[in-house]
Amino acid sequence: MNMLEVNHLRVWDANEGKEIIHDSSFQLKAGTCLAIVGESGSGKSLTCRSIIRLHKPWIRQSGEIIFKGEHLNQLSERDMRKRRGKQIGMIMQNGMGAFDPTSVVGIHFQETLKAHFGWSKSEAEVNMKKAMESVMLPHPMEIMNKYPHQLSGGMLQRLMIALTLVLEPDIVIADEPTTALDTISQYEVVEQFIQLRERMGGSMIFVSHDLGVVKKIADEVLVMRSGVIVESGSIKSVFTEPRHAYTQYLVSTRLELSSHFNKIMNGGT
Ligand SMILES: Nc1ncnc2c1ncn2[C@@H]1O[C@H](COP(=O)(O)OP(=O)(O)O)[C@@H](O)[C@H]1O
Ligand SMILES: [Mg+2]
Repeated sequence: MNMLEVNHLRVWDANEGKEIIHDSSFQLKAGTCLAIVGESGSGKSLTCRSIIRLHKPWIRQSGEIIFKGEHLNQLSERDMRKRRGKQIGMIMQNGMGAFDPTSVVGIHFQETLKAHFGWSKSEAEVNMKKAMESVMLPHPMEIMNKYPHQLSGGMLQRLMIALTLVLEPDIVIADEPTTALDTISQYEVVEQFIQLRERMGGSMIFVSHDLGVVKKIADEVLVMRSGVIVESGSIKSVFTEPRHAYTQYLVSTRLELSSHFNKIMNGGT
C-alpha cells in the first residue's frame, strides 16, 4: 500500500514565471523510508514542502498529492493545517527555525500537544519527558525551560525527534536534518532517526546529500537533478548499478568521501 503518492507535481516561481520542479511523480510505500538525494538546488526541499503545501507565497504548485487515499491538493488550508505535525511530521535542516525564539521550548511542546491532542500542561510534560529521555536528552525539565538559542543544534534536532515520537505521525519528512550539525552530533542524530523509524514503524522521507547516511537509513531512493527525478529504485539497485550518468557520478564521488570519512572515524588513515 502507498502511504503517499505524488503525481505530476510541478512547482513554479510565480514572480519570475519559472518552473522549478518539472512533472515529478513518486510513491512512498507504507512502513518504508524513501531517501531524496541530489546536489544543492536540485529541488529536494521544494518537493518536501509541496507535500505539506507550505511554501513562500510566490511559490505555486500543481499535481496530485495523495496521502492515505486522500487528495491533499483538494483540501482547504484549514484542513491542511490539521494534518501538518500530527499526521505528517516535518523535521527541517535548521532546528532553530522550528521553534519560537521568544519562548522556552517547553511552551512550544505544550502548545503543539494542546492543539493536536487537547492535552493539559502536565499531560504534555509527562509525555515529552518520557520521549526526551528515550532520545538521550538528560534533565528534560531543565531543557524545557531553555530558549532555543541556549541549546545546541544537535539537541534541537533531538527535541524535534522527541516531539515526533509523541505525535506519532503517519509520515515523517526529514529535510537534511543533520547537515547543520558537527560530525559527532550528526552521527548521534542519525542513530536517533534509525530508532525513530523502528519505534514508529511509520513511513519516512529522508533528504540528505550524504549517501553513507542514506544507505544506512533508507529502503528506496530518488535522485534529483535540476528539478527532475532522474533515477529511482531500491537503495541496493541504485547504488550498485546506477543507470543515469549523474547518479554514477554521485555514487562514485560521494561513496568515496564516505569511505574516507569512515576511515578517519575508525582511526585509520
Ligand atoms: N522561496 C523560493 N523562491 C524562489 N526560488 C526558490 C525558492 N526556494 C527555492 N528556490 C529555487 O528552487 C530551486 C530548488 O530549491 P530547493 O528545493 O531548495 O533545492 P534543494 O533542497 O535540493 O537544495 C533552486 O534553484 C532555488 O533557487
Ligand atoms: Mg534543501
